[in-house]
Amino acid sequence: MRVLAPSILAADFTRLGEEVRAADLAGAQYIHLDVMDGAFVPSITFGMPVIERLRACTDRVFDVHMMVEEPGRYVKEMRKAGADIICVHAEACRHLDRTLNQIRECGARPAVAVNPATPVESLSCILGEADMFLIMSVNPGFGGQRFIPYTLEKIRRLRRMLDEQGLFADIEVDGGVSAANAKEILAAGANVLVAGSAVFHGDVRANVRRLLAAMEEQAE
Ligand code: DX5
Ligand code: ZN
Repeated sequence: MRVLAPSILAADFTRLGEEVRAADLAGAQYIHLDVMDGAFVPSITFGMPVIERLRACTDRVFDVHMMVEEPGRYVKEMRKAGADIICVHAEACRHLDRTLNQIRECGARPAVAVNPATPVESLSCILGEADMFLIMSVNPGFGGQRFIPYTLEKIRRLRRMLDEQGLFADIEVDGGVSAANAKEILAAGANVLVAGSAVFHGDVRANVRRLLAAMEEQAE
């Protein structure tokens, strides 16, 4: 299934509930929530209290991208706040397998993110342990950056690795995604696209429609 996951990092934080509702009503399937701790990445964003409040605004899947050192410390609380998918960075977990188990045990779907410089081959042992893999197509920490072209090859390689093991997992791509490059990202083997600026800068409804249309075209 092809999925659009608007990242609220680019939304108007003074009207967060309305922005989330607008993305939902326009047809986006997930809401992507970027949690940053000021340690794994330079920025600090928001955490459980904000996510818990937003949970009342939509029934869409909450895709929580944790840019946090040792995110295992927060898994339970994050699930309680309303996370459906909990995505942790391979680089931030000393015991990644254990953290993925914790996520599954608390009833959320586990996902693993890798930075641009982290090879997808480092995921070979845990391909069957996560429901989704997130290929970062910018260095995490900020919205509005340019898509790094070499990450396309990482998407292809990861899809091939999954296929070779007879596994299916979602491949999500995050950073610099727009209606202009959506098609080639999907063609490389991704099926979940995160978009921050491309959704929340300007008319949310029109932006979501444009992105969903671009994603559809590729399917034909
Ligand atoms: C970056 C975040 C992204 C970000 C994407 O660290 O993980 O989710 O919001 O923003 P755009 O789509 O503007 O690159
Ligand atoms: Zn993100």
